[in-house]
Amino acid sequence: MTTAAEKERVGLAAAGLVEAGMTVGLGTGSTAAFFVAGVAARGVKARFVPTSEATAAMAREHGMEVIGLDVAARIHLTVDGVDEVDPALNAIKGGGGALMREKIVASLSDTVVYIGDSSKPVNRLGAFPLPVEVSPFAAPAILRRLSDMGAAPMLRHHDGRRFVSDEGHWIIDAAFGEIEDPGELDVMLNMIPGVVAHGLFVDIIDRMLIADSTGVRTLERPA
Ligand code: A5P
Repeated sequence: MTTAAEKERVGLAAAGLVEAGMTVGLGTGSTAAFFVAGVAARGVKARFVPTSEATAAMAREHGMEVIGLDVAARIHLTVDGVDEVDPALNAIKGGGGALMREKIVASLSDTVVYIGDSSKPVNRLGAFPLPVEVSPFAAPAILRRLSDMGAAPMLRHHDGRRFVSDEGHWIIDAAFGEIEDPGELDVMLNMIPGVVAHGLFVDIIDRMLIADSTGVRTLERPA
Protein backbone atom coordinates (compact mmCIF):
# COMPACT_ATOMS: atom_id res chain seq x y z
CA MET A 1 0.00 0.00 0.00
CA THR A 2 1.38 3.45 -0.86
CA THR A 3 1.85 6.20 1.70
CA ALA A 4 -0.80 8.25 -0.08
CA ALA A 5 -3.25 5.36 0.18
CA GLU A 6 -2.54 5.07 3.92
CA LYS A 7 -3.12 8.81 4.34
CA GLU A 8 -6.42 8.50 2.53
CA ARG A 9 -7.44 5.50 4.63
CA VAL A 10 -6.77 7.25 7.94
CA GLY A 11 -8.26 10.56 6.75
CA LEU A 12 -11.50 8.86 5.79
CA ALA A 13 -11.58 6.89 9.06
CA ALA A 14 -11.27 10.14 11.04
CA ALA A 15 -14.01 11.77 8.94
CA GLY A 16 -16.41 9.33 10.60
CA LEU A 17 -15.81 11.06 13.96
CA VAL A 18 -17.54 14.26 12.86
CA GLU A 19 -21.15 14.59 13.99
CA ALA A 20 -23.85 17.06 13.06
CA GLY A 21 -23.75 20.27 15.11
CA MET A 22 -20.08 20.00 15.98
CA THR A 23 -17.49 22.72 15.59
CA VAL A 24 -14.43 20.99 14.13
CA GLY A 25 -10.82 22.11 13.81
CA LEU A 26 -9.39 21.24 10.40
CA GLY A 27 -5.70 20.43 10.21
CA THR A 28 -3.22 21.22 7.46
CA GLY A 29 -1.20 18.99 5.16
CA SER A 30 -1.72 16.07 2.81
CA THR A 31 -3.26 13.72 5.41
CA ALA A 32 -5.59 16.37 6.80
CA ALA A 33 -6.68 17.09 3.22
CA PHE A 34 -8.09 13.56 2.95
CA PHE A 35 -9.95 14.16 6.22
CA VAL A 36 -11.43 17.40 4.88
CA ALA A 37 -12.52 15.69 1.66
CA GLY A 38 -13.99 12.80 3.66
CA VAL A 39 -16.01 15.09 5.90
CA ALA A 40 -17.26 17.03 2.87
CA ALA A 41 -18.29 13.79 1.17
CA ARG A 42 -20.33 12.77 4.21
CA GLY A 43 -22.20 16.08 4.05
CA VAL A 44 -22.43 16.41 7.84
CA LYS A 45 -23.87 19.76 8.94
CA ALA A 46 -21.06 21.11 11.09
CA ARG A 47 -18.91 24.25 11.30
CA PHE A 48 -15.19 24.28 10.72
CA VAL A 49 -12.17 26.20 12.02
CA PRO A 50 -9.25 25.75 9.58
CA THR A 51 -5.63 25.87 10.75
CA SER A 52 -4.30 27.53 7.58
CA GLU A 53 -5.35 29.62 4.62
CA ALA A 54 -4.76 26.59 2.39
CA THR A 55 -7.16 24.43 4.41
CA ALA A 56 -9.70 27.27 4.59
CA ALA A 57 -9.65 27.54 0.79
CA MET A 58 -10.05 23.78 0.44
CA ALA A 59 -12.97 23.69 2.90
CA ARG A 60 -14.73 26.55 1.13
CA GLU A 61 -14.28 24.81 -2.22
CA HIS A 62 -16.06 21.82 -0.72
CA GLY A 63 -18.91 24.11 0.40
CA MET A 64 -18.15 23.66 4.12
CA GLU A 65 -19.05 26.41 6.61
CA VAL A 66 -15.79 28.05 7.70
CA ILE A 67 -15.73 30.13 10.89
CA GLY A 68 -13.05 31.90 12.90
CA LEU A 69 -12.31 32.08 16.60
CA ASP A 70 -14.55 35.16 16.84
CA VAL A 71 -17.52 32.86 16.19
CA ALA A 72 -16.27 29.53 17.52
CA ALA A 73 -16.89 29.67 21.25
CA ARG A 74 -15.95 26.02 21.57
CA ILE A 75 -14.19 23.51 19.32
CA HIS A 76 -15.46 19.99 19.94
CA LEU A 77 -12.95 18.03 17.86
CA THR A 78 -9.77 18.79 15.92
CA VAL A 79 -8.21 16.40 13.43
CA ASP A 80 -4.75 17.08 12.03
CA GLY A 81 -1.63 15.34 10.69
CA VAL A 82 1.80 14.89 12.29
CA ASP A 83 5.38 14.68 11.07
CA GLU A 84 6.44 12.33 13.89
CA VAL A 85 4.70 10.90 16.93
CA ASP A 86 6.24 9.01 19.86
CA PRO A 87 4.71 6.35 22.15
CA ALA A 88 3.63 9.03 24.68
CA LEU A 89 1.76 10.76 21.82
CA ASN A 90 4.08 13.73 21.82
CA ALA A 91 4.60 14.92 18.26
CA ILE A 92 6.54 17.08 15.87
CA LYS A 93 4.35 19.16 13.58
CA GLY A 94 4.82 22.07 11.24
CA GLY A 95 6.26 20.50 8.12
CA GLY A 96 3.59 22.45 6.27
CA GLY A 97 4.32 25.64 8.20
CA ALA A 98 0.97 25.92 9.94
CA LEU A 99 2.22 24.99 13.42
CA MET A 100 1.14 28.16 15.21
CA ARG A 101 -2.52 28.03 14.17
CA GLU A 102 -2.45 24.24 14.59
CA LYS A 103 -1.32 24.58 18.19
CA ILE A 104 -3.82 27.34 18.96
CA VAL A 105 -6.75 25.38 17.54
CA ALA A 106 -5.65 22.19 19.32
CA SER A 107 -5.39 24.07 22.62
CA LEU A 108 -9.02 25.19 22.28
CA SER A 109 -10.36 21.73 21.43
CA ASP A 110 -12.20 19.31 23.68
CA THR A 111 -10.74 16.35 21.80
CA VAL A 112 -7.58 16.30 19.68
CA VAL A 113 -7.29 13.40 17.26
CA TYR A 114 -4.25 13.32 15.02
CA ILE A 115 -3.80 11.02 12.06
CA GLY A 116 -0.86 9.60 10.18
CA ASP A 117 0.45 6.95 7.83
CA SER A 118 2.70 4.13 9.02
CA SER A 119 5.88 6.23 8.60
CA LYS A 120 4.90 8.67 11.37
CA PRO A 121 5.34 6.68 14.64
CA VAL A 122 8.90 6.78 16.04
CA ASN A 123 10.46 5.65 19.31
CA ARG A 124 12.12 9.04 19.87
CA LEU A 125 11.24 12.38 18.26
CA GLY A 126 13.88 14.34 16.39
CA ALA A 127 14.83 12.77 13.07
CA PHE A 128 12.42 15.28 11.53
CA PRO A 129 13.87 18.82 11.96
CA LEU A 130 11.80 20.74 14.49
CA PRO A 131 9.98 23.75 12.98
CA VAL A 132 10.35 26.89 15.10
CA GLU A 133 8.23 29.90 14.10
CA VAL A 134 9.96 33.20 14.85
CA SER A 135 9.70 36.94 14.59
CA PRO A 136 11.74 37.98 11.50
CA PHE A 137 13.53 40.62 13.63
CA ALA A 138 14.68 38.00 16.11
CA ALA A 139 15.59 35.31 13.54
CA PRO A 140 19.41 35.87 13.48
CA ALA A 141 19.61 35.76 17.27
CA ILE A 142 17.40 32.68 17.48
CA LEU A 143 19.49 30.88 14.84
CA ARG A 144 22.55 31.42 17.06
CA ARG A 145 20.65 30.38 20.17
CA LEU A 146 19.43 27.15 18.59
CA SER A 147 22.99 26.34 17.47
CA ASP A 148 24.16 26.89 21.05
CA MET A 149 21.47 24.42 22.16
CA GLY A 150 23.03 21.77 19.90
CA ALA A 151 20.69 21.99 16.91
CA ALA A 152 21.53 22.51 13.26
CA PRO A 153 19.09 25.32 12.43
CA MET A 154 18.18 26.53 8.93
CA LEU A 155 15.79 29.24 7.81
CA ARG A 156 13.06 27.66 5.72
CA HIS A 157 12.80 28.55 2.04
CA HIS A 158 10.21 27.51 -0.49
CA ASP A 159 10.56 27.82 -4.27
CA GLY A 160 13.75 29.83 -3.80
CA ARG A 161 12.11 32.35 -1.48
CA ARG A 162 12.01 32.69 2.28
CA PHE A 163 8.95 30.90 3.63
CA VAL A 164 6.50 33.20 5.43
CA SER A 165 3.78 31.67 7.61
CA ASP A 166 0.12 32.63 7.45
CA GLU A 167 0.84 34.72 10.55
CA GLY A 168 3.67 36.63 8.80
CA HIS A 169 6.52 34.91 10.65
CA TRP A 170 9.60 33.04 9.47
CA ILE A 171 10.28 29.38 10.20
CA ILE A 172 13.57 27.88 11.32
CA ASP A 173 13.90 24.11 10.85
CA ALA A 174 16.08 22.99 13.74
CA ALA A 175 17.56 19.50 13.45
CA PHE A 176 18.14 18.43 17.06
CA GLY A 177 18.66 14.74 16.43
CA GLU A 178 17.01 12.49 19.02
CA ILE A 179 15.13 14.65 21.53
CA GLU A 180 15.64 13.06 24.94
CA ASP A 181 13.09 15.11 26.87
CA PRO A 182 10.40 16.74 24.70
CA GLY A 183 8.77 18.38 27.73
CA GLU A 184 12.00 20.10 28.75
CA LEU A 185 12.73 21.32 25.20
CA ASP A 186 9.14 22.57 24.92
CA VAL A 187 9.65 24.80 27.97
CA MET A 188 13.11 25.97 26.85
CA LEU A 189 11.87 27.01 23.42
CA ASN A 190 8.84 28.79 24.86
CA MET A 191 11.20 30.93 26.95
CA ILE A 192 13.18 32.34 24.00
CA PRO A 193 11.98 35.87 23.17
CA GLY A 194 10.97 36.02 19.51
CA VAL A 195 9.90 32.37 19.30
CA VAL A 196 6.18 32.65 18.63
CA ALA A 197 5.49 28.91 18.33
CA HIS A 198 7.31 25.66 17.82
CA GLY A 199 6.38 22.28 16.43
CA LEU A 200 6.81 20.17 19.57
CA PHE A 201 3.30 19.18 20.64
CA VAL A 202 3.62 17.86 24.19
CA ASP A 203 0.57 16.51 26.09
CA ILE A 204 -1.75 17.88 23.42
CA ILE A 205 -2.85 14.79 21.46
CA ASP A 206 -5.66 12.70 22.98
CA ARG A 207 -5.77 10.02 20.35
CA MET A 208 -3.70 9.02 17.34
CA LEU A 209 -5.01 7.06 14.37
CA ILE A 210 -2.33 5.28 12.34
CA ALA A 211 -3.01 3.59 9.02
CA ASP A 212 -1.03 0.75 7.52
CA SER A 213 -1.75 -1.88 4.91
CA THR A 214 -3.89 -3.90 7.34
CA GLY A 215 -6.17 -1.13 8.58
CA VAL A 216 -6.30 1.72 11.09
CA ARG A 217 -5.14 1.35 14.69
CA THR A 218 -5.93 3.75 17.51
CA LEU A 219 -3.41 4.86 20.14
CA GLU A 220 -4.63 6.65 23.28
CA ARG A 221 -2.37 9.03 25.20
CA PRO A 222 -0.95 7.09 28.18
CA ALA A 223 -2.36 8.30 31.52
C1 A5P B 1 1.37 21.28 8.82
O1 A5P B 1 1.97 22.42 9.34
C2 A5P B 1 1.89 20.07 9.50
O2 A5P B 1 1.85 20.10 10.88
C3 A5P B 1 1.28 18.79 8.95
O3 A5P B 1 0.15 18.42 9.65
C4 A5P B 1 2.32 17.76 9.04
O4 A5P B 1 3.46 18.27 8.38
C5 A5P B 1 1.90 16.46 8.38
O5 A5P B 1 1.84 16.64 7.00
P1 A5P B 1 1.39 15.51 6.02
O6 A5P B 1 0.01 15.09 6.43
O7 A5P B 1 1.39 16.18 4.67
O8 A5P B 1 2.36 14.39 6.10
